[in-house]
Amino acid sequence: MNLLIKNGTVINAGGRRNCDVAVMGGKIISVGQGLKPGVKTEIVDASGLFVLPGAIDAHTHFELDFGLFSSADDFFTGTKAAACGGVTTIIDFVTPNKGESLINAFKKRKLTADSKVCIDYSLHMGLSEVNDNVINEMADVVKHGVPSFKVFTTYAFRITDEEFTRTLTRAKELNALVMVHAEDHEELEANRAKFISEGKTNAWHHYLSRPEEVEAKAVKNVIKLAKNTGASIYIVHLACAEGLKAVEEAQSEGYPIYAETCPQYLNFTCDVYKRPDGKNFVCSPPIKGKESRDALWDSIKNKKNINTIATDHCPFNTFDKDYGKDDFTMIPNGVMGVENLYPYMLSQASKGIISFERAVELCSANPAKIFRLSPKKGSITQGADADIVLYDPKKNFTISQKNMHSTIDYTIWEGTELKGYPVCTYSRGELIYNNGEFLGKAGHGKFIARR
Ligand code: URP
Ligand code: ZN
Ligand code: ZN
Repeated sequence: MNLLIKNGTVINAGGRRNCDVAVMGGKIISVGQGLKPGVKTEIVDASGLFVLPGAIDAHTHFELDFGLFSSADDFFTGTKAAACGGVTTIIDFVTPNKGESLINAFKKRKLTADSKVCIDYSLHMGLSEVNDNVINEMADVVKHGVPSFKVFTTYAFRITDEEFTRTLTRAKELNALVMVHAEDHEELEANRAKFISEGKTNAWHHYLSRPEEVEAKAVKNVIKLAKNTGASIYIVHLACAEGLKAVEEAQSEGYPIYAETCPQYLNFTCDVYKRPDGKNFVCSPPIKGKESRDALWDSIKNKKNINTIATDHCPFNTFDKDYGKDDFTMIPNGVMGVENLYPYMLSQASKGIISFERAVELCSANPAKIFRLSPKKGSITQGADADIVLYDPKKNFTISQKNMHSTIDYTIWEGTELKGYPVCTYSRGELIYNNGEFLGKAGHGKFIARR
């Protein structure tokens, strides 16, 4: 064996035990007590530390072209930041232009990512239109290891209910998952136009134009359409209580409906949009009121209708956000989080809000299962990739732009105090992060074709 992690507490979604983890050739070859090293084995003493599967952030937007703007992190800086926050796999998006072949867009995106990624990655296929060509190409996309398609009910590339149903029907035949960004386009556009015409231009009106009901209406609609087809959907960045209730009902009726939320919806409320730096928090859907935040936490803790936590990492530097300082509709949408996901959720565990097992389930085991990365990813078990995080539950950490590893010139998480912090990250057995220092390299990460 190359590496033996001794005396730690191994925590998987299903439970914990004090034992050693042996690694060889990038894989976990044994998990057990009293494992003996070979002559050349590197031994790491993990006494007092938790040994966790690396997190899987199933929703990132690295180097995303957003018209006038491009998201600030590329595949190198984004995966570097991820590694430093204990994320060992990300799933990003292919965003084909209208009329472009999905497979060509996939190949281009993969080429962009391959030489830059420091951790393993996979891709979802975004659909900006639905027509015969797109429907026909979906099978080929799945064959290339991309069995998840993402659609939007708003933005210029939104699809209609009819197109959504067509996508669901085809996805069901292909045993693929449809991810959906759900906000009611007509309502939010009407709100935006009204506010702008009234001279109400600050970031608070971003929230007011896309409040709880705008999201809930779309969530209920996509669930209704999914139920009609029996297809499986995954609602990304769910942020409102009423939408969550609809998910809860559909899940209790046995429909294959999954829900993701993000740390920004769990930590903040819409009051951030009243702050002088409110524009920096602009993302869609916007962060909602306290009632929604409480409902999300209730689900995470008790009802378990939230299946995953991902980040929707899509940051823009302040000079880009400033573009909309006099008109909230011009603020590029998106916030950062890939380096904060696991530390934030694990800190909630350290503070006793949820168990460590639940944090691991939401951030690693469930995304691995839902997006077909398991058994390679998502657990510390024999045969899995050695994507391992050593976590110190006693280390206090205050988030600041200065101690983050992406290129962005601010963080919405500035000053957030965490209890516990990842101290080491291994990607397939290689140490890529050690106590604040990034040790990985571009191109180490591999594309994972999901079967
Ligand atoms: O504001 C956001 N979320 N930007 C990223 C694109 C998306 O809608 O997921
Ligand atoms: Zn979205
Ligand atoms: Zn997104």
